[in-house]
Amino acid sequence: MATNWTPESWKTQEARHLPVYGDQAKLSEVEATLAKFPPLVFAGEARALKADLAEVAAGRGFLLQGGDCAESFAEFSADNIRDSFRVLLQMAVVLTFASKQPVVKLGRMAGQFAKPRSAPTEMVGGVEMPSYFGDIINGIEGNAEARRNDPERMLRAYGQSSSTLNLLRAFAHGGYANLRQVHQWTLDHIGRSPWGEKFSQMADRIGEALDFMAACGVEPSSVPQLQGTDFYTSHEALLLPYEQALTRRDSLTGDWYDCSAHMLWIGDRTRFEGSAHVEYLRGVGNPIGMKCGPSLEPDALLRMLDTLNPGREPGRMTLISRYGHDKVEAGLPKLVRAVKREGHPVVWSCDPMHGNVIKSDSGFKTRPFDRILAEVRGFFAVHRAEGTHAGGIHIEMTGQDVTECTGGAIAITDEALKDRYHTHCDPRLNGAQSIELAFEMADLLNLEATQGQKQAA
Ligand code: TRP
Ligand code: MN
Repeated sequence: MATNWTPESWKTQEARHLPVYGDQAKLSEVEATLAKFPPLVFAGEARALKADLAEVAAGRGFLLQGGDCAESFAEFSADNIRDSFRVLLQMAVVLTFASKQPVVKLGRMAGQFAKPRSAPTEMVGGVEMPSYFGDIINGIEGNAEARRNDPERMLRAYGQSSSTLNLLRAFAHGGYANLRQVHQWTLDHIGRSPWGEKFSQMADRIGEALDFMAACGVEPSSVPQLQGTDFYTSHEALLLPYEQALTRRDSLTGDWYDCSAHMLWIGDRTRFEGSAHVEYLRGVGNPIGMKCGPSLEPDALLRMLDTLNPGREPGRMTLISRYGHDKVEAGLPKLVRAVKREGHPVVWSCDPMHGNVIKSDSGFKTRPFDRILAEVRGFFAVHRAEGTHAGGIHIEMTGQDVTECTGGAIAITDEALKDRYHTHCDPRLNGAQSIELAFEMADLLNLEATQGQKQAA
């Protein structure tokens, strides 16, 4: 357990990107209420995820982490949750079937509300307003009242996270994720893409394999692994008063856990030395992610790893690189080498979203699909060259048929962005683009495996 740590020791460190609340009495009241609410996850589940990630860190398995850039109160609905979940299932099944490796499924869901912003104010329709920091902090509407930071929003975010998680658990273990349902996961708009056809062929082959196994006496009814799947949740641990209020001591081990999600990550803007966010995460037992952008030097990364994972526990750390399609191959190797040299067991995951944002000619913030793919390919190439495992992907996606990222097989043009641009924050991959990415990654995983076998021979 971490020494000299308490759930509020972060308050002695430098906290960037935390909102200032006008009404401190209200904040304390909300914190006290949250502290009495039940935990959203159980420490034992966080440990189970850590064990799964330890396998990935050892080169056996792949981490699939995805969901909205920011969840919102307005887009909260069963259909939305189900559609994102089913696209993640589709991606997972593509990756598992093609690579023959287990896939760890981790939603950027049920708690992903808070956003770091580069400036405290932004222009909305020509008027300067406080920036939008995510629905857990203030409202997106362009008026002063909505933009006021309101602690009570934390209670609503907790409620929404709780029911989202409840539905995800129901889907994961209640029959929806049964491998026999593989054909049913396809969404209409994915069926129209060439990858929809490819998915349906693969689903046929899985169905056949299941028929064969059933004839041999192995059936979903008798094998729980075929009936459902483990699905975990994660978000950026940004809003520390909220995270602190959900920090609990595990009754089994006596260790502290952040019970707002199974995994928490720390953003590229809050992972500096002396950071309150690092201080907070250092003391909780959950698996931790850390975003690694171009400004991170190997020495600083190693110091972070020593702080966050002094015991070098496998599965504790996932390093999520986010360089940009044109920088990953030059920038990432030095980090990979340093971590390998020091023997830190980490999962290397690729966030191909945040380094590839551009402003389109039509004025929308977008991410060209070919750049996203290029960063993923670059990431795999670096790991092939270094002899390390390309262990995961971190994406912003939705099951909705949105037009937010350009390109993909049903090519979304610059002009078409305006049709269904719904995001509250960054542009997300739609279902068809997500499946396409999964098929591409399955090939890349196989390339890594083939190379590994050649070197072993
Ligand atoms: N339980 C296994 C797993 O999660 C197999 C499985 C069941 C599965 N349902 C699934 C795999 C849905 C992917 C998607 O890997
Ligand atoms: Mn984002």
